[in-house]
Amino acid sequence: MRSHTCGELRITDTGKEVTLCGWVQRSRDLGGMTFVDLRDRYGITQLAFNMETHAALSEQAHGLGREFVISATGQVIERSSKNKKNPTGEIEILVQELKVLNKSVTPPFTIEEETDGGDDLRMKYRYLDIRRNSVRKNLELRHKMAIETRNYLNEFNFIEVETPVLIKSTPEGARDFLVPSRMNAGQFYALPQSPQTFKQLLMIAGLDRYFQIVKCFRDEDLRADRQPEFTQIDCEMSFVTRDDVLETFEGLARHLFKAVKGIDNITFDRMDYADAMKYYGSDKPDTRFGMRFVELNELAQNKGFKVFDDAELVVGINAPGCAEYTRKQLDALTEWVKRPQIGATGLVYVKCNADGSFKSSIDKFFNPEQLKTWADAMDAKPGDLLLILAGKTNPTRKAMGELRLEMGKRLELRDPNTFSCLWVVDFPLLEWDEESQRFYAMHHPFTSPLQEDFELLATDPGKVRANAYDMVINGVEIGGGSIRIFDKDQQARMFEVLGFTAEEAKAQFGFLMDAFQYGAPPHGGVAFGFDRWCSLFGGSESIRDYIAFPKNNSGRDVMIDSPSPVDMKQLEELGLALKVKSEK
Ligand code: AMO
Repeated sequence: MRSHTCGELRITDTGKEVTLCGWVQRSRDLGGMTFVDLRDRYGITQLAFNMETHAALSEQAHGLGREFVISATGQVIERSSKNKKNPTGEIEILVQELKVLNKSVTPPFTIEEETDGGDDLRMKYRYLDIRRNSVRKNLELRHKMAIETRNYLNEFNFIEVETPVLIKSTPEGARDFLVPSRMNAGQFYALPQSPQTFKQLLMIAGLDRYFQIVKCFRDEDLRADRQPEFTQIDCEMSFVTRDDVLETFEGLARHLFKAVKGIDNITFDRMDYADAMKYYGSDKPDTRFGMRFVELNELAQNKGFKVFDDAELVVGINAPGCAEYTRKQLDALTEWVKRPQIGATGLVYVKCNADGSFKSSIDKFFNPEQLKTWADAMDAKPGDLLLILAGKTNPTRKAMGELRLEMGKRLELRDPNTFSCLWVVDFPLLEWDEESQRFYAMHHPFTSPLQEDFELLATDPGKVRANAYDMVINGVEIGGGSIRIFDKDQQARMFEVLGFTAEEAKAQFGFLMDAFQYGAPPHGGVAFGFDRWCSLFGGSESIRDYIAFPKNNSGRDVMIDSPSPVDMKQLEELGLALKVKSEK
């Protein structure tokens, strides 16, 4: 139907007879001329209608409303007033024939970069929002990421295998989405939270290297970086050590940085989980900037300041150049750390004044010499501000981690165009849950302990480190994985530590334990949050922007209005209606 797209024609095409198809973005009358901006996926081209030479045609152009779908045939001519911002802005089409292919009612918001539509409205009419450049560009970026991921993994012998979506519910991890089975009344499938056990079975099946760009489903509370259905780049490899896995996927990251962002020389640091917590208060530290924690217990305790003396941890960061903060700003910062989300009980500050003197919120308890020892320990210079928190170790580190990120933001040290990549390694294998008085697997129950820690499982399970790793870029957990247990007895031991009886372990994971008996190779892998990686590359905090049809914060698709009630008949077929009735 068309000879060219709306993003294609240039001054060198002047004189050509062309036909373009697209949507009417806007039209305007200027004296004897009518101009229409015609848009398609590739760009915008200006159509020109001459009232004097083509009066009927111009009349027809006047009838065009926003978002009408048209086809226009005419000659490419040089524009008298050029638009340098638009790649097609040096030409226009002098239209000789116009066809309306379809009309449009007035759209609920303007389909331009600066739109008047709010979030909710644009979600309801997502297909119109996708017509906008910025949204479409995000989907194009996602497409490029997917293609380049496939190219790289294919090059390294990974094969893409589809695993089932109707699987079995397991109690570990997040909540499952359940699907009732009509043919097996009273029984349910679960949608996969990840294809973890299937990819391990594919290793036992001898496929050696597997990947899949795959939808995963988790019924958990939503945030900017979480959706109930999201996509992983899921990978597994046989006969590998941890370093083999990390190097392979550093390679993937470097390939994507180069192919998608045009960035070379990406390097990866490795950091122990213990150090990440000690120096950044987070298992996903944003290493674009320093401001590492300095522990001050030795220098600051037993000097008569009760808050410090009673604390398990006294820890500070140095905010460079912030000594000029006013009383008001410091009070506001103190209020900020005391908010329930941060949870600190208070904030101590020490201003390292430009003249070499100190001013602190605890001058009563510490003299300038003592404050100087802190400043030296924190590598502070005149003009810097020390911010100090004290309390129980874990919550204090967490609160300081938040304060560090906040100060990093205020000081503009978190530039979205700078990338700092690392692997956080040697996570604890288990996490103790006070409420249920049991251990949970920090990653998942198939993760291998570090072999040197295996014996500790019997004596001090909380101390066992996992052969697990997370890829972190700019403070975002992009992916995580581990070397797996591949021995039936070790796996059984692991379930036991997690509080499963032998029968429960067999009922839930018997298929995997059985498979381990038939020559399971050593294996390990990783899964990346594909939506998160796209949003990181696109420079947005919300993964929604990179998902064609996302859910809102209540887990609803407001466009198709889902979830929604179903017919009683459907419930009856599924054997669910009876249940509801009998419970009444
Ligand atoms: P994990 O649970 O760490 O590991 O998930 C891997 C990565 O998936 C992303 N992610 C999410 N993205 C968007 N919305 C969500 N709700 C969401 N949940 C997780 C994160 C995360 O790092 N089977 C293991 C991987 C393995 O061991 O190989 C797994 O699923 O970026």
